[in-house]
Amino acid sequence: MAKNTSSTLNVAAPVPAAAAPVATFDHPDVRVQRAHAAVAAAHARDPLWPDFARRLQQHLGTLVGELAPLYGHRPDFEAFLSRLLLTCWTSWHARAADLRSLDARREAEPDWFQSHRMVGGVCYADLYGGNLRGIEAQIPYFKSLGLTYLHLMPPFLCPEPHNDGGYAVSSYRDVKPSLGHIDDLRRLAQKLRDEGISLVLDFVFNHTSDEHEWARAALAGDPRHKDFFYIFEGREQPDAYERTLREIFPDEHPGAFSPLPDNRWVWTTFHSYQWDLNYANPDVFDAMAGEMLAIANLGVEFLRMDAVAFIWKRLGTSCENLPEAHQLLRAYNAVARIAAPAMLFKSEAIVHPDDVVKYIDPAECQISYNPLQMALLWNTLATREVNMLQKALAERHHLPAHTAWVNYVRSHDDIGWTFADEDAIQLGIHGFDHRTFLNRFYVNRYPGSFARGVPFQDNPATGDCRISGTAASLCGLEQGDPHAVARMLLLYGVALSSGGIPLIYLGDEFGALNDMGYLQDPGKAGDSRWVHRPARDPVRFEQRLDPATDAGRIFAGLSHLIRLRQHLPSFGGGRLTPFWSDNPAVLGYLRHGEGQTGGGNILVLANFSEKEQVVAARVLSGMPGAAADLIGQNGHDLRSDLTLAPYQMVWLDCRRG
Ligand code: GLC
Ligand code: GLC
Repeated sequence: MAKNTSSTLNVAAPVPAAAAPVATFDHPDVRVQRAHAAVAAAHARDPLWPDFARRLQQHLGTLVGELAPLYGHRPDFEAFLSRLLLTCWTSWHARAADLRSLDARREAEPDWFQSHRMVGGVCYADLYGGNLRGIEAQIPYFKSLGLTYLHLMPPFLCPEPHNDGGYAVSSYRDVKPSLGHIDDLRRLAQKLRDEGISLVLDFVFNHTSDEHEWARAALAGDPRHKDFFYIFEGREQPDAYERTLREIFPDEHPGAFSPLPDNRWVWTTFHSYQWDLNYANPDVFDAMAGEMLAIANLGVEFLRMDAVAFIWKRLGTSCENLPEAHQLLRAYNAVARIAAPAMLFKSEAIVHPDDVVKYIDPAECQISYNPLQMALLWNTLATREVNMLQKALAERHHLPAHTAWVNYVRSHDDIGWTFADEDAIQLGIHGFDHRTFLNRFYVNRYPGSFARGVPFQDNPATGDCRISGTAASLCGLEQGDPHAVARMLLLYGVALSSGGIPLIYLGDEFGALNDMGYLQDPGKAGDSRWVHRPARDPVRFEQRLDPATDAGRIFAGLSHLIRLRQHLPSFGGGRLTPFWSDNPAVLGYLRHGEGQTGGGNILVLANFSEKEQVVAARVLSGMPGAAADLIGQNGHDLRSDLTLAPYQMVWLDCRRG
């Protein structure tokens, strides 16, 4: 760890510490003033204080504004605030010098992640590189692919063999021994940063594993930790809550609670070994702030806020997307602005689209998965009709300034059909029936299906079901469908050109197929999502360089699209104008770029069917007379009809008329 010596400071005009006046914090709540004064009195002579003090002045009001409605009624509110400010200070003080200078750079350029050069990748360290050192060895490959963002699935210590792919964390300060040491993670972050790749890690903060020391202490009756979780003596309260809760992993346990050995019940939204944290207890907020900042200080630039919808509970509600969940997130965001400002938040809310957007705000989560676009891409492949996707681009794509979508095709999770029934019905589509069709289509129980997916959490009681499967298997590669490669490139082509940060599920770049091997692994067998989490297959990985193979065709096609994107400022930012092609199978939109020089119009057209499709000349009449397709590298006369081959996508350069 770098020592905080004065030579590593990045304060603009150093004032002799002793002479610096101790700023007070003006706030109507005297408890806030006192908490501020306490930390200032103890640390204002530290050379690292002035930078911290400036950020505190800027964000403490927001932090308190979010926390007071949650905890302000408590007699220990001032003590809590004092501890929280000390947590922030301690973490800032421990922050490495190069991260502190990154903080300053990012603050000066808050829209840096809107660049057209941004391209993300996500993988499991063990499955893709063996361990953390193995991932480090892949950095040259990641660079050649064009990645600027790497999300490693949770590498932290967790129970074996059941740990939900790392989403049951036993310690946020240690990595799994099989992956290496926490210092390997710090070093990896540094190496990635040196190569222009931002490390992304999860903050699994809705729950810990049942092996976390807090859970163990709670079970043992430790007075401090018993309120860290939701533990109930009998079934009365669990039953009352369950009247309005949805079941997330019904295959593993019904409802949202699991029995403890002593017959008490603990809240477990996900698996029975994932205990939900009780954020009604301010001690939990502070303790987790400390864990969050420790992750930040590893050099993490985007923190994926896991399962944000579930973090606050209230009897009689679904306990999802409650206003308090947003207050907690904004409070954590303020904590990050104060003590680790280079780190931004990514929201993981796989919920109704009206709720997804509520998490996206510069003061809450700056970036977010775009689960609607993801699901509708697959929907469009199944129906060959762009109606729902085109409508979503028109009505649900726009985001506030300084925020961005993360557009993806597949993730480590299932595909849930989270479109809004209200949107669907406007197109004459009945939500429940349509989801049933999609599930049947993707598990290959529908005539004409090319997909080889498997059901996830099929719940006959509710008719609910989601889909597992790799992108390639869902696109038809497994059954040798002649259009499979084109379908993959089409989906990734949309993710790469529709704004925000495109994210590649690593393995997709060479068309990884479903892997049934998980059924042999006791830690994985009960969870079909492992079907699309195969270890990197060395043979297929090598095939990516052979254009005669499917892997090679996917790799060449995807690499071409990535390189094009990274040369097109028009693809920066998120601004998009829908373009109605007047052909039900052809998606269309215009990209303009945003506040970047060299931007201009790119018209994207994408044929989602296995038949040739025509876009009529009259539809193109607002366009220049001719334009080059950047993908195919050929010219098109836009005064006549434009014909698209099956699954063809064009990026028409209309910048120069
Ligand atoms: C998120 C993760 C998922 C995990 C769940 C519980 O949804 O993406 O993989 O099972 O949270 O942590
Ligand atoms: C997420 C979602 C759920 C998803 C699960 C993980 O938080 O809400 O739909 O399937 O966790 O797979």
